[in-house]
Amino acid sequence: MDRGHDRGDTVSFRIAVLASGRGSNFLALHAAASAGRLPVELVGVFSDKASAPVLGHAGERGIAARSLSPRDFPNRLAFDLALLDAVATVQPDLIVCAGYMRILDGDALAPWIGRMINIHPSLLPKHRGLHTHRKALEAGDHEHGASVHMVTAELDGGPVIAQAVVPVLPDDDEATLAQRVLSREHPLLIASVAAIARGEVAWQDGRLCHAGKPLATPLRLGSDDRLQVAA
Ligand code: GRF
Repeated sequence: MDRGHDRGDTVSFRIAVLASGRGSNFLALHAAASAGRLPVELVGVFSDKASAPVLGHAGERGIAARSLSPRDFPNRLAFDLALLDAVATVQPDLIVCAGYMRILDGDALAPWIGRMINIHPSLLPKHRGLHTHRKALEAGDHEHGASVHMVTAELDGGPVIAQAVVPVLPDDDEATLAQRVLSREHPLLIASVAAIARGEVAWQDGRLCHAGKPLATPLRLGSDDRLQVAA
């Protein structure tokens, strides 16, 4: 993976965000970067929805924000190629899908494999796709959580970098469980992006690696918001 853009006196690790909705994960990344807790530069936010609140959040913070409408393109491949062309103009080192609700065409994303991650609200491989909190409740799971994974052509199926685990409590409903997971998604995404920006997690020869070795088991977010090697 490219370890950042050298622009003369400083090296920055450039992050583009793909998002379709409210943008709390984007805001968490932005707050951490602004506070010096995350060594990255947010260089653009891109959406498939012109009305997505995340675009306003980005604009208010002086970050380039752009939406493209799938309706303006003949098919998924054409839209995804145009979207990723737009993303490429900001020269990201990493694309972070944070609530991006469209499936990406495999051919369009192929050049970005190893440079694109997604945050998904379940302990993958459990509960891919939508309505993950409902699925966890229906399955009677005692634990639930979130995963950050490399994006591949398989929906929610790329190698998992790190996970945050929360308990499922007896009186949980979808809303309470979603809120508990979301509160851990933010530190999970920040820690995962930081690990990539620092080169601790990398895509090497088509494999996800941590500290230079293939990562067999996802890292786990500790109560101190740091990633730990799973026991
Ligand atoms: C998060 O739960 C994320 O895991 C999922 O979509 C949601 C996006 O939330 N992929 P936000 O837009 O970042 O607030």
